Amino acid sequence: MNLISIRDVDKNEIESILDLAEKMENKSTKDLEGKIIATLFFEPSTRTKLSFQSAAERLGMKVIDFIAETTSLKKGESFIDTIKVVEGYADIIAMRHPKEGSARLASQLSKIPVVNGGDGANQHPTQTLIDLYTIRKYKGKINGLNVGLIGDLKHARTVHSLVYALAMFGANIKLICPKGLELDSAHLEEIQGKFNITLEHTSEVDFKGLDVLYAVRIQKERFADPYEANSIAAKYQITMNNLEGVKDDFIILHPLPKINEIDPEIDDTKYAKYFEQAHFGVPVRMAVISHLMKRIET
Ligand code: CP
Repeated sequence: MNLISIRDVDKNEIESILDLAEKMENKSTKDLEGKIIATLFFEPSTRTKLSFQSAAERLGMKVIDFIAETTSLKKGESFIDTIKVVEGYADIIAMRHPKEGSARLASQLSKIPVVNGGDGANQHPTQTLIDLYTIRKYKGKINGLNVGLIGDLKHARTVHSLVYALAMFGANIKLICPKGLELDSAHLEEIQGKFNITLEHTSEVDFKGLDVLYAVRIQKERFADPYEANSIAAKYQITMNNLEGVKDDFIILHPLPKINEIDPEIDDTKYAKYFEQAHFGVPVRMAVISHLMKRIET
């Protein structure tokens, strides 16, 4: 009844969530009237928190919000006690926490469903569902597509969830990143062991032949030398020059927030789909909430 990792859902379940999201696009219902969602964000968020709140409102739910700075956390209350209290105030929890494993711990403590909106560098499963939804929307399929992922692949939780899901759906994956920021070998061994996929690694920025590019931030704070960080970020910034020779129906996605990893000129091109992707957060999270609430009723 929880969604903590993308591994918690199989392909059929993902497809049924995406189908439900399709039906929920631009709709408001009273399906979950009388139910309450608690949004517990121990770390900043714009999209995840607001789209969970918007999704809940569109399902007829009420929202109770937790702003870490104004709660009893400030008096030293523990995370464990916070979860044990909040589970009595709501019917479902959507949460984010800087520590990896915190959402799993919350789900073990809580009698109500918990949805992970990001735990450290670990997982962000609802973002992955949005990413898959966006790809399916623009491409009609995921299987067999050439999908590139560019940026700091080591530390991005969105990438850790998405790579697994892309492999599950049979996409061909190209990992583009600077040396030292590669996806951990444990992730690669897991997906290569479970799924029969084509996987390419490169540090060269070349998008020819790709159907989809998924960009994430180069986390400059991870570098000891700020000059090296700036030079790598500049090399991996996506510019109009990089778009020469790409497929006509190539699309660029980004979980956002983007800082300067994409030249703003690209925002107005037909390739940029990241703002639409952010908007799909509402129907996809409506579908996730409905799916989990239905699971506990049956
Ligand atoms: N994509 C995403 O998780 O954005 P926020 O950090 O704003 O929630």
